[in-house]
Amino acid sequence: MKITVIGAGNVGATVAQLIANAELANEIYLVDILEGIPEGKGLDMYESMPVLESDSRIYGTNNYELTKNSDIVIQTAGLARKPGMSRDDLLVKNAEIVSTCIENAFKYSPNAYYIIVSNPLDVMTYVALKVTGLPKHKVIGMAGILDTARYRSFISMELGVSMQDIQGLILGGHGDTMVPLTRYTTVAGIPVSDLIPADRLDEIVKRTAGGGGEIVKYLKTGSAYYAPAAAVTQMVESIVKDQKRILPCSVLLTGEYGYKDVVVGVPAVLGKGCMEKVIELKLNDAEKALLKTSCDHVEATIKEAMELIKK
Ligand code: APR
Repeated sequence: MKITVIGAGNVGATVAQLIANAELANEIYLVDILEGIPEGKGLDMYESMPVLESDSRIYGTNNYELTKNSDIVIQTAGLARKPGMSRDDLLVKNAEIVSTCIENAFKYSPNAYYIIVSNPLDVMTYVALKVTGLPKHKVIGMAGILDTARYRSFISMELGVSMQDIQGLILGGHGDTMVPLTRYTTVAGIPVSDLIPADRLDEIVKRTAGGGGEIVKYLKTGSAYYAPAAAVTQMVESIVKDQKRILPCSVLLTGEYGYKDVVVGVPAVLGKGCMEKVIELKLNDAEKALLKTSCDHVEATIKEAMELIKK
């Protein structure tokens, strides 16, 4: 298993480290445009492996040729948010960065699976699909696991119970228009509505939707990376080990949920074929309306991005 992580910044370096620690790949290539940074971080991580008892080998580079024949490529390069910015504010610059990086990686790894993390995530996944021309099951985005993890954390804080007992699901775009399915949220099998009053649950949902912004406000110079990197690693693990976990991922819809030609978060089965299946849920009217708002928003941003790329 050979994995390439594009972007040796906060998210990229943390992803590489988590994948190496879990020994999910024999070789990990960390690529960045900056000179020295990927090499330095890569070597530092390599040197931690004897202690961590993993035989993953990490190499940093500016040269895409070395990433040749990767099995999985993870795209994290791009600008991160600063306080006051929305993910969409990153569109112009990141559309350019993502298309260049993916074009370079695809030249050497046409058979790889691509996981997109750069924001605005759903739109960047669409850009990567267009740049590569790959089918939808091979190019997916990471957002839903992160949003759901934030939601699960907040519920666990509220109830003072184990995070592991909390199951939840968030659909839609990665942003203010995400669609938390409180109906499908359980705590050790108990519906969350039996444990948390509706108004309090609404507040938790709102905090979840603004969860990325909450971290940006604290960090001031960048955005979240520990939880995003953990979420990417879970996707990689499910693919590498063919676990067939059902995880919310950003996927190009081709009729599912009544939408076409838009990338949004939906529950999907991840295994050795990458995104093996989209799970379609029967949404109620309120959930359908939220999903429509989310899809409309992502669709409009995709249009904007495609215009920019044409220029
Ligand atoms: N090619 C390769 N690397 C690039 C390029 C490029 N064209 N442009 C920028 N980079 C690299 C930067 O040099 C930097 O090392 O991308 C890295 C980004 O790292 P950070 O600034 O630390 O940002 P990070 O927190 O990792 O976020 C990256 O992930 O979650 C999203 O919104 C976030 O879009 C952002 C991305």
